[in-house]
This record gives sequence, C-alpha cells and structure tokens, in this order.
Amino acid sequence: MTDHAITADGLTKRFGDELAVEDLSLSIPRETVYGFLGPNGAGKTTTMRMLVALTEPTAGTADVAGVSIANRPRLTRRIGYLPADPPLFDELTAWEQLRHVARIHGISDGQADTRIETLLDRFNLLADADRRIESYSTGMRKKVGIIAALFHDPDVVFLDEPTSGLDPRAARTVRDTIADLVTREMTVFLSTHVLSIVDELADTVGVINDGALVAEGPPAELKARADESPDLETVFLEVTAERDGTTRDGPQTDAGGPETEGTRTDV
Ligand SMILES: Nc1ncnc2c1ncn2[C@@H]1O[C@H](COP(=O)(O)OP(=O)(O)OP(=O)(O)O)[C@@H](O)[C@H]1O
Ligand SMILES: [Mg+2]
Repeated sequence: MTDHAITADGLTKRFGDELAVEDLSLSIPRETVYGFLGPNGAGKTTTMRMLVALTEPTAGTADVAGVSIANRPRLTRRIGYLPADPPLFDELTAWEQLRHVARIHGISDGQADTRIETLLDRFNLLADADRRIESYSTGMRKKVGIIAALFHDPDVVFLDEPTSGLDPRAARTVRDTIADLVTREMTVFLSTHVLSIVDELADTVGVINDGALVAEGPPAELKARADESPDLETVFLEVTAERDGTTRDGPQTDAGGPETEGTRTDV
C-alpha cells in the first residue's frame, strides 16, 4: 500500500446514461510516471477529476498519496492538479496568482517569492510576471497552471494534457520538468495525446477507450505487442480500434467527436 502512490478499485463514473469511466482499477508505484492515453472522450479527464476528488465516483474507491478519495481531501498538500484548462484569475498578474496559490497552501509571501521567481524564470515567464493574466496567450496561461500545480511540491501530481498549446521550447521544459519531478520523489499521472512524451517519460502506459482500460504496461512491453510495427501509435490505434465506427450513447460534448474517429494522436 505505502509503495503505491495511486490505487483505484472499480472506479466508475456515470453521467446520466453515459458511462464515462467503467470499472477502472489502477496500481501505480510511487516515484513513477504513469502515461494515460485514450481517444477524445475516452474518460481521461473524468478519471483524473475523480482521483483528485473533484468529481465523486458513481462506484469504486481510490487512494491517492495515502488518502482515500472518499474523504474528499480538497486542497491536500500532497496532491497537485493541472486541469486541461487551468482556472486562473484574469485580473491578477502571474506573480499575484502564484502568491495566491502559495497562500492557499500556507506558504508565506516571503518564502513564496523566491520560488515564484525560480519557476517563472524556468518557464520563461519572468518578463511577463507583472502583466495581468487576461493578456496572456494560451501557452502562457498553461505555464502558470503548471507552476501552480507544482508549487507546493506535492507527492502526486496529475497533469491533464500539460503540453497542449505550448510551443516546442516550452513543451521541452515541461518534459524536462516531469523527468526531474520523479528524481525529487514525486509521482506523476499524465494524460496526453502526444505519444512521444509517454514514450520518453512513462514507466507505465495505460490506454483508456470508451471508459475502459484496454491496455496497460511499460511502453516497451506494449510496443512489443503491436501487430503492425513496434511503436506506440500502432499500439494506440490497435487497442482503440475495437469500438471505432460504433455510435456512443449520449451526447458528444467534446470538440473531438466521431469525426476524429477517436484515433487522433496529437493535438
Ligand atoms: N460533466 C459532464 N456531464 C456529462 N457528461 C460528461 C461530463 N464530463 C464528461 N462527460 C462525458 O464523459 C466522457 C468522457 O469525457 P472526458 O472528458 O473524461 O474524456 P477525455 O478522455 O478527457 O477526452 P479528451 O481527450 O477530449 O480530453 C465523454 O463522453 C464526455 O462527454
Ligand atoms: Mg480530457
């Protein structure tokens, strides 16, 4: 138990008739990177929202960083979360926003400022730190969200598509940061459509399709299973192909719907 950062047993989420996540079980060792893949609408964000206790499961249980999600451990210092669209205060500057994050975690302004400066510099945002977030580009907002998720040095961090909207240099910084987090004893749960990130960083890959985990294992092991050629794209296309062409029940609210054939591999 203690050697696992995340365990889930039978995690299920239903939205009306829609089964977004179905009987998901996970067992993720500490200080590893778990790469979570799946087509648009597969259930990645819903899974992460359950694991950070923002969405209540319809059934099932999970423990994250030693705490049961049933106890709704909001704002626990042990968990960090980067939502796909990080909620930021438009009227604040990045510096003010991060001080706010620090205060939520009980970190004084004095202590926070050194860390804010280091992190903003790392993400090449220092020159813009005193501008209001409303004037930021998508990628700049994302960077502030990433810094906010990591600010309090959590044990387990959930990153929902951390590189979407980032330019190549910023994406590189995020990759390097993730690699560095594990050396600092963090566990990273990462959803992405960029297969090369998972290939490079993940100790274990999980592929979710239509709410169900359809493949799981180290990248090399999954690649070896592919029929066509030994790469993650082939694996992804094969294990998510089964339900292609079938119509899902319920409304499709995501921008990426059936027209992407559920197999888009980068965004
Ligand atoms: N609040 C909600 N109410 C109703 N249905 C929802 C809600 N949130 C998610 N869903 C549905 O649950 C399913 C899974 O959505 P989810 O956002 O978890 O997918 P995802 O794997 O993160 O997709 P993407 O790659 O597009 O981000 C989708 O069919 C979606 O429409
Ligand atoms: Mg999502």
